[in-house]
Amino acid sequence: MSDFNDTFLRACRGEATDYTPVWFMRQAGRSLPGYRKIREKYGVLELTQTPELAAQVSLEPIDLLGVDAAILFADIMLLPMAMGVDVRIVDAVGPVIDQSINTPADVARLQAFTPDRIEYLQQTIKILRGELKVPLIGFAGAPFTLASYLIEGQPTRQWQKTKRFMFEEPEAWDQLMSVLSDGVIGYLQTQVSAGAQALQIFDSWIGALSAADYRRYVLPHMQRIFSSLKATGVPRIHFGTDTAGMLEDFGSVEAEVIGLDWRMDLGRARQLLPGKALQGNLDPITLLAGQDVIERRVDELFASMQDRRGWIFNLGHGMPPEADDTKVKQLVEYVHGKR
Ligand code: CP3
Repeated sequence: MSDFNDTFLRACRGEATDYTPVWFMRQAGRSLPGYRKIREKYGVLELTQTPELAAQVSLEPIDLLGVDAAILFADIMLLPMAMGVDVRIVDAVGPVIDQSINTPADVARLQAFTPDRIEYLQQTIKILRGELKVPLIGFAGAPFTLASYLIEGQPTRQWQKTKRFMFEEPEAWDQLMSVLSDGVIGYLQTQVSAGAQALQIFDSWIGALSAADYRRYVLPHMQRIFSSLKATGVPRIHFGTDTAGMLEDFGSVEAEVIGLDWRMDLGRARQLLPGKALQGNLDPITLLAGQDVIERRVDELFASMQDRRGWIFNLGHGMPPEADDTKVKQLVEYVHGKR
């Protein structure tokens, strides 16, 4: 297909591209007008499980913003749901699990993932591949981030129960990480079989750990996940926030691309992670400032990247719900115009 834009995939593989590709984490849903209209009638989970509508939400930013990749409209909690966990999404809160994981026996209750449990996602991916002229990114939450929701029972920014479980029950923790890792591998393999052309693993809350605890409690599982996904043949992106203190370990997995939040200097990440493509890392709050400020800060990111090969422009975390699509579209054009 000659009109297929593979700039994003080429950048993931570190190849030279005509311009710097750009997409935004949480570009689907959130602030866009078409999404908000659909949300008047449907809840988030219902939406993710209705392939025609979910595909429509993924497509909206492609047309409206002109980004170089699409992301599946889904949620990281769909995997635990497919493993038998009851999840509710509560407005203005996030995922809530009434029967949270508190004991080793709770870990044993998790069911194995099987592809038939996400037939709806496979269907969404097939619809999207029929429509898209840019690559489709599939994704999953990483085991630590998933475990934090399962153990806390709801979003917290302290991770007290999670860390306490990890410290006090190292064997059950390891079992939980192993079971979730198996799930992540199967879930992502299923997305690629259905047509996903790149994969991102979000370890959104991993920065809660020290580098030493990351190495001890999490990294072996991440290494297994990424190595297992090599056979899919698609680029693998490893994203986390607050990873500056553990970046060499975080970036040591077998992933083509490392996603960075805004706290990390891009030029420094290049030195620490030779051979990896990088993705990031404009502070999302920049989008709320004026266009001149946005462009000056984009200039600064470009100045810190001497070699533009293997760089995918993105935010340092998700798009703020308040972002204005006209400004975001201008930002995309500005990045595309930079040489
Ligand atoms: O932002 C990240 O760190 C990405 C990883 C992540 C997703 N969901 C991916 C996602 C995380 C940490 C979640 C958990 C989650 N699920 C939250 C955050 C809770 C917290 O701790 O603060 C929330 C609010 C949900 C429920 C949810 N998922 C909603 C309300 C929506 C739709 C609109 C929105 O606000 O984004 C989703 C969709 C979703 N979750 C997407 C992704 C990648 C698809 C949309 C996209 O990427 O554009």
